[in-house]
Amino acid sequence: MKTILTGIRPTGNLHLGHYFGAASNWLKLQDDYDFFLEIADVQALTDNFHQPEKLASNVFLLAVDLLSIGIDPKKVHIFVQSKIPEIAELTIFYSNLVTMSRLYRNPTVKTEIQQKKALFGQQGESVTYGFVGYPVSQAADITAFHGELVPVGEDQLPLIEQCREIVRKFNSIYGETLIEPKPLLSETPRIKGLDGAEKMGKSLGNAIYLKDSEEEIKKKIMGAITDPKKIQKDDPANPDVCMVYYYHKLIHNENLEVVCKECKKGERGCVQCKKELIQKMLEFLKPIQEKQKYYYEHKEEVYKILEDGRKVAKEKAEQTMKDVRHSMKIDY
Ligand code: TRP
Repeated sequence: MKTILTGIRPTGNLHLGHYFGAASNWLKLQDDYDFFLEIADVQALTDNFHQPEKLASNVFLLAVDLLSIGIDPKKVHIFVQSKIPEIAELTIFYSNLVTMSRLYRNPTVKTEIQQKKALFGQQGESVTYGFVGYPVSQAADITAFHGELVPVGEDQLPLIEQCREIVRKFNSIYGETLIEPKPLLSETPRIKGLDGAEKMGKSLGNAIYLKDSEEEIKKKIMGAITDPKKIQKDDPANPDVCMVYYYHKLIHNENLEVVCKECKKGERGCVQCKKELIQKMLEFLKPIQEKQKYYYEHKEEVYKILEDGRKVAKEKAEQTMKDVRHSMKIDY
């Protein structure tokens, strides 16, 4: 069985962007691989170091959501990054193998720095060492478990490439030790927001969360962007520019063809269409929310799962560390 490793930052509850953009893909992979799923709390600190008090609850909420969507802890080792100190140790050793200019040229880091500048102006200039260096720590995440395949979205490709470079450099200097990982791109591109923006995101305020109440779902979907050219209820419209149709498609409404046809012919008003989507969305979320409720009431079970995952992860990382120390001739 090949080893898969992927990570996700704990930033609170999961939304449909996380689910359809990444997590639903993990569900398909869990039967066929030795799967390590990391809750990347240390990485979350790289741009949230001033709010550490949020981490503990965010880790818990994320673990609950992962379990509620159907990640099976019997098949997947779910663990918390900070519980595996070997990752931090590897990060230090790898940091010698990467130049600062290479990190600054990493397209993901570059984009994120630009976003910070756009958000915070001059303050955005004060990028920390930890932030610029997070690709190095991510390389440690992957290689600590000898991850061969890394399921990620497109935006993460430069980070995998950086990891591959570090592995090659390590192996060429210290001898064949680490496995060069390959990215495994998810089929779904990024998921659009309720407002029609290219990306659904927490900070963008355009997301539907897996834990949203009926009231919230109603409010959000009633406010979703539809074809702006459609004025009257019976005007024909273009479903391809309508977010309501987009989500009908995303959650696999079995009446999709009817929705499309009626919309194009002007036989379906937007309000009716939104009400139908609300119903379908609630049906889609129901089994997930039942499990969320169960895990919120059985906290100890969630922590036990994280502890079990930690044990497996720790054992594997310890072995890697031994090999690395041996190759680096620091096993004295
Ligand atoms: N950087 C990833 C993200 O923001 C999360 C992550 C952390 C990750 N460690 C990883 C992804 C290791 C793949 C492999 O989504």
